[in-house]
Amino acid sequence: MYILGWMQYIPETSVYPREPEPLKELRNATATHPSAVFGTSPDAGQLIGMLLKTVNPKKTIEVGVFTGYSLLLTALSIPPYSKIVAVDMNGETYEIGLPFIKKAGVEHKIDFIHSQALPFLDKLLEDPTPSTNLGSALDADKGNYINYHERMMKLVKVGGLVLYDNTLWGGRGFVAKPEESVPMGKREVRKATIEFKKLLTTDHRVEISHVPSGDGVLICKRVS
Ligand SMILES: C[S@@+](CC[C@H](N)C(=O)[O-])C[C@H]1O[C@@H](n2cnc3c(N)ncnc32)[C@H](O)[C@@H]1O
Repeated sequence: MYILGWMQYIPETSVYPREPEPLKELRNATATHPSAVFGTSPDAGQLIGMLLKTVNPKKTIEVGVFTGYSLLLTALSIPPYSKIVAVDMNGETYEIGLPFIKKAGVEHKIDFIHSQALPFLDKLLEDPTPSTNLGSALDADKGNYINYHERMMKLVKVGGLVLYDNTLWGGRGFVAKPEESVPMGKREVRKATIEFKKLLTTDHRVEISHVPSGDGVLICKRVS
């Protein structure tokens, strides 16, 4: 997955030495899973954790849980009274991470919803008041970020953050490479991610910053 020296240097020198023990244990337990690459990169995780601690959200939405690296990271980063609604269509992978979440003593912060994400967000939207005051992470259904964004703009209050993971795509910055050099199986999401980024640059409801951390984290702050 890592292609540049600094992509190894950063985790080794600033992330792993500071990574909370429960996260390290969950990451190690996931390492042998056939889809281990799904897990949020620890360096992107460190950034997300810092953002969450800065905004102190009362409620967050986590879209795409897998074994729960970014979920546990979020639970450890938000204040004790805060809650996470986490949605994933696969409940089995969540079960792998659950013992680590329980051991870390943060299970009470999490409401795990076993569902397709878009219909679940539509259900949340039946309450017209934006209830997620700050901090939401999106890490699923990558080709569909445009549709998630519209829903997030209604769910997240002004001042809130929406974080989109894998926005450089494929662990190799595929969005910045010519289409013909990208493996066929990665092209559709590459195209959708490029379109999504274009849309965000014209969306005046958000300020954006695209950070080359992990597989790329696009930080959106709702400003209107
Ligand atoms: C990249 S993984 C998430 C990784 C996670 N953030 C972590 O740190 O381990 C993507 C997850 O999204 C879920 N997913 C993909 N498409 C989905 C959809 N349409 N609705 C709900 N979950 C979905 C998959 O089951 C998978 O567990």
